[in-house]
Amino acid sequence: MLFFQGEGLTTISFSEFSDRLESNDIKSVVIDGNSIVGKFKDESSFKLVSIISNDLIKILRDKRVHILFSTEAINADVILNSISIIIFLGVLVFGWVIYEKNFTISLDDKLITEEEKLKFSDVAISDEVKESLEMICHFIKNRKNFEQSNCDIPTGYILYGPPGNGKTLLFRAIAGEVNIPCYSVSASEFSKPLMGAGPAYIRDLFEKLRKNSSCILFIDEIDAVSRRNNSETSAINNEERRMITQLLSELDGIKSRKDVIVIGATNHLSHIDKALLRPGRLGEYIHIPLPEEKEREKILNINLKNIQRAPDVNLEEIAHRISNCSGADLSDLAKKVKYNAMNRSHKGTIPTITMDDFNRELEKMKRINEARVEQTVNQHGIRNSSQQFI
Ligand SMILES: Nc1ncnc2c1ncn2[C@@H]1O[C@H](COP(=O)(O)OP(=O)(O)OP(=O)(O)O)[C@@H](O)[C@H]1O
Ligand SMILES: [Mg+2]
Repeated sequence: MLFFQGEGLTTISFSEFSDRLESNDIKSVVIDGNSIVGKFKDESSFKLVSIISNDLIKILRDKRVHILFSTEAINADVILNSISIIIFLGVLVFGWVIYEKNFTISLDDKLITEEEKLKFSDVAISDEVKESLEMICHFIKNRKNFEQSNCDIPTGYILYGPPGNGKTLLFRAIAGEVNIPCYSVSASEFSKPLMGAGPAYIRDLFEKLRKNSSCILFIDEIDAVSRRNNSETSAINNEERRMITQLLSELDGIKSRKDVIVIGATNHLSHIDKALLRPGRLGEYIHIPLPEEKEREKILNINLKNIQRAPDVNLEEIAHRISNCSGADLSDLAKKVKYNAMNRSHKGTIPTITMDDFNRELEKMKRINEARVEQTVNQHGIRNSSQQFI
């Protein structure tokens, strides 16, 4: 364009252009999109708008007209093309991110790491629960022997019981006792805003797990996707039904998934779809109850193992004084007692917990508990002894 800037340009028609071209009058042209500016051989300038076809270019070349393409036009074209490519790539990346986020799972993120693994000795459990869990580990460790004797080992378990009693913790302990990869997901991850994404996510999860030679999958809060369709719970929607069906079909693919052991955890066994709890699917149930006195003492011990205790601290007596509390309540009690000791200790001295620290916290807990019981009595008119904490 710069080539002709500032000079008087006469607009000519396409017919005039064709005639002058035919009579070899045109010296040079600059093509910019659909417009042509040029010079006749007498050095006068012209411009016109025309469709620039390959035929026209060929005629111009045959007539030995000097042709230039405007770099501005080319740049605009390049910029437009680049923008289209960037938008296209952006849409692709966005689609890919949505797909990756909603329809697929990254197993690496779900793997229980060495730091997360525990041992059964790190968790306070009754002998009965310990026996059941050791049995799972025994099956896994000796799987080949069982198979050689034509005996299929159970591949689906449910840990159930009130909240805060170590179901999630116990899975980490199982992971520390067996030497196969262990993965943990929460069933709430399966619920996706996009239609069909939940079942696709479950399918992708099992497909990836099957690539392992042998592994354990822990599905925490499994009732989140497997609610039983009965009158006690609200009607489940189609997406949830599809997720349950997908889960059932993955659990049923026994031959192909025989190396994937599935352990579910729930606070509400009664909320889980019966089809999932059938033998052969998640057919082995292990109840994780509130801790008994012996376990209560052990939980306090575990949670206070890194802090100095005064000689008067008697965990056995404390465990005896409190009841109907969960492992989480006890771990919280231990934490608060530690805070008390740390707040009291002077700079440079090692904090030491005393029986007084416990008494103070237990007194607070008792008051909170009494207030809670009173509120329930006021609301429902019932005094439930299981709410008695201390
Ligand atoms: N048996 C136990 N031994 C040692 N600590 C325990 C035990 N049970 C609970 N705790 C303590 O309580 C915390 C909560 O336990 P966890 O998350 O495993 O309970 P949960 O049964 O999975 O609860 P939820 O049903 O609410 O998921 C643990 O991090 C631990 O500090
Ligand atoms: Mg849990």
